[in-house]
Amino acid sequence: MLIRYETPADIDAIHDLTSVAFKPMPYSDGTEAEIVSRLRASGDLTISLVAEDDEEILGHIAFSPVTINGVHGGWFGLGPISVKPERQRQGIGKALIVRGLELLKDRGATGCALIGNPDIYSRVGFSGDGQLMYLDLDRRLVQRIVFRGTTPSGMLQFAPAFETPNPT
Ligand SMILES: CC(C)(COP(=O)(O)OP(=O)(O)OC[C@H]1O[C@@H](n2cnc3c(N)ncnc32)[C@H](O)[C@@H]1OP(=O)(O)O)[C@@H](O)C(=O)NCCC(=O)NCCS
Repeated sequence: MLIRYETPADIDAIHDLTSVAFKPMPYSDGTEAEIVSRLRASGDLTISLVAEDDEEILGHIAFSPVTINGVHGGWFGLGPISVKPERQRQGIGKALIVRGLELLKDRGATGCALIGNPDIYSRVGFSGDGQLMYLDLDRRLVQRIVFRGTTPSGMLQFAPAFETPNPT
């Protein structure tokens, strides 16, 4: 399996994969594929990696800038992340996360934050101490990995692409 940066030829496959992977998830609002597209369009898709096997896209991960208490400070958000449903629990998500974090570090990032299941993300080094918050969400779901500097506290905010556009 190859982990590589997305190319323009992957864009439709990433959209479809993200839709299919999130569809059965109770926490999905069905906007995740569009979030990836909006991040790309707004220039906030800092890192976009695909996992490819035999020319098939099996997984995708996005990283984008975040702020904590309104300050970017070199922090990035992980997500959306998707693995083809029939290929989940085979290490593909972990491989994407590990590679993405390496690349973020190489670029001098301070750390990475996410909202997600601690059972999954604790396996790749994320943790939460309740100091990082996202809206009024259960703080155990708000996790981070610190590459350098101090442990952050405060309100996490994702790129505008994560906000649901107002209906027109
Ligand atoms: C979340 C997702 C990307 C994980 O990818 P994956 O390829 O299935 O995960 P991996 O096989 O690499 O597993 C990574 C670790 O998390 C654990 N894990 C994976 N899914 C888990 C689950 N549902 N519950 C508990 N642990 C889980 C694995 O056991 C593994 O731990 P280990 O390395 O100690 O064995 C994938 O399940 C997915 O696409 N889900 C649908 C979309 C989604 O929910 N995205 C994330 C939103 S936060």
